[in-house]
Amino acid sequence: MVLTLSTAALLAAAETATGTTQETAAEKTTVAGGAITDVDQKAATTAEAVKEVEEEAKAAVKKAEDVKEEAKAAVKETEDIKEKTEAVAKEAEEVKEQAEAAAKEAEEVKEQAEAAAKEAEEVKEETEAAAKEAEEEKEETEAATKEAEEKKEETEAATKETEEVKQESQAAAEEKKDAVKEEAEVAAGETEDVEETAEEEEYDEETYGPEALIIWTVPIEAVSFSHKTHTMDAGLDCDTCHDDLFEMEAGVASENEDFTMETIYDGGYCGACHDGGGAFAANTRCAACHIGVMGARRENGETEVAGH
Ligand code: HEC
Ligand code: HEC
Ligand code: HEC
Repeated sequence: MVLTLSTAALLAAAETATGTTQETAAEKTTVAGGAITDVDQKAATTAEAVKEVEEEAKAAVKKAEDVKEEAKAAVKETEDIKEKTEAVAKEAEEVKEQAEAAAKEAEEVKEQAEAAAKEAEEVKEETEAAAKEAEEEKEETEAATKEAEEKKEETEAATKETEEVKQESQAAAEEKKDAVKEEAEVAAGETEDVEETAEEEEYDEETYGPEALIIWTVPIEAVSFSHKTHTMDAGLDCDTCHDDLFEMEAGVASENEDFTMETIYDGGYCGACHDGGGAFAANTRCAACHIGVMGARRENGETEVAGH
């Protein structure tokens, strides 16, 4: 269009020139023809340029389309990435929730453990309290036992005193009797016989058990037991020991493996009474029962040694 207009303008100018200056018209026509040729050439050049521009424009449009498609592809990719990201985020959310659930569970387990520990603590405290109470009761019992022991000792001392007084008066009576006897009888040796008979009658084996000491040398040498001390003096009946604690046969106990202090301390054998209650405690006066090797030899002259 620009090209057409330019040509028309040039033609119009040429006509005007022809109309006004007839003489120079031919000359001017020639000039104009040249100009036209120039213009045509320019027009051709311009047309080519236009074509080029058009092609460039087409190329640009194509490029723009390519770019658009690329952009679309990019958008799609972006969307995919976005979706993936969302999926990952969702997964992460789930993992987080699971972690939170696990943490909560752990918290609960911890609380339960703490509750259990607290309960155990309480049970422990109760047990300790009970143990303390038992300890106190034990102490009270021990105090009572000690008191009883002291009273018993006092009573024994009193009994002993009475016994001594009795013996003294007996001796006095005997002295008097002897004097009377001496007056009545002549022989001095007869008095000795009477005394010996009296002593023999004092201990009756059928009433009080064998007079000879029982002596054990197993497991350790040597422990002695006197029936007299227990029956005649302490007033115990035969069946307090026979046959629950001891057989009526010297040496039988020594054949038992448990004839030891441990058993005695636990209330077996002599420990049935020698626990500080019925009789002095077995862990106090060792030598009262343990007469030792020499003691056994001393006794050997008169008694049999059991346990072999
Ligand atoms: C405090 C306990 C106790 C009392 C009470 C007791 N004895 Fe014994 N007696 C013994 C012991 C200990 C033995 C020896 C047992 C052994 O070695 O295993 C024994 C042994 C005997 C033996 C056997 C002696 C020998 O040499 O084999 C006769 C018999 C006996 N006693 C009779 C009596 C009579 C009878 C009475 C009651 C009057 C009596 N005992 C009361 C503890 C006792
Ligand atoms: C059934 C109870 C009982 C048994 C079992 C018993 N005794 Fe005794 N015993 C007594 C009594 C009670 C006394 C007198 C109180 C005291 O001395 O504590 C006594 C006293 C004694 C004495 C002291 C004697 C003194 O003169 O001081 C000796 C030692 C003794 N017993 C040894 C033994 C031996 C050893 C055994 C075991 C083989 C034994 N007793 C088993 C109750 C028992
Ligand atoms: C009531 C009497 C009695 C008293 C008290 C006593 N014992 Fe014994 N003991 C025995 C008798 C019974 C045996 C067993 C017989 C034997 O070993 O000859 C024995 C055995 C033993 C034995 C050897 C067996 C074992 O248990 O290992 C030892 C050790 C012993 N006594 C140590 C002691 C000591 C230490 C004391 C004092 C803290 C003591 N005894 C007090 C009666 C007594």
